[in-house]
Amino acid sequence: MNYVTVHDKTFQPFLSEAEIQQAVSRLGKAISKDYKGKNPLFIGVLNGAFMFCSDLLKTLEIPCEVTFVRLSSYSGMESTGEVRSVVNLHEDIEGRDIILVEDIVDTGLTMQKALANFGTLKPNSIEIASLLVKPDCLQCELDIKYKGFEIPEKFVVGYGLDYDGLGRNFKDIYQLKQD
Ligand code: IMP
Repeated sequence: MNYVTVHDKTFQPFLSEAEIQQAVSRLGKAISKDYKGKNPLFIGVLNGAFMFCSDLLKTLEIPCEVTFVRLSSYSGMESTGEVRSVVNLHEDIEGRDIILVEDIVDTGLTMQKALANFGTLKPNSIEIASLLVKPDCLQCELDIKYKGFEIPEKFVVGYGLDYDGLGRNFKDIYQLKQD
């Protein structure tokens, strides 16, 4: 893994493809065990979670369904604090076991808003699976049942995560380089 440049910033290697895939398999095993005999509906949060969601579902050993929503609170490298729902859910989730699939939890406001919104639609259960969590940035109480990695408060790109639209296609995850 080498340094990469995205827009005006340089990023250094942080998590390799192998490390990511190992974490994804671990989460897939845990979910398969916890949801044995059930048919959970995964709700991937676009755009960032598309890659994680796809790889996670490939590791599952249970029947499942998947759909996507778009919730956005980021502009450039800053969380705006205001969560906008851009693509709404079309499925009926009443009585369903829901797993929200997120690329990264930063302030936690996006997931808090999603839990509140989807909670009103009377699912049987609702849990969060996030590949990355920045615990030092959390601004609310959030129970994240399935976590890939806890990471420091640094901006990251790759494996679905972008910096102003670019970098999502990298297989590995890169961290903003120290000056
Ligand atoms: P939160 O609402 O602050 O938890 O923000 C979550 C969303 O912010 C994620 O779904 C990402 O789209 C974006 N985000 C947060 N931290 C990063 C980062 O380090 N790199 C890229 N996107 C990020």
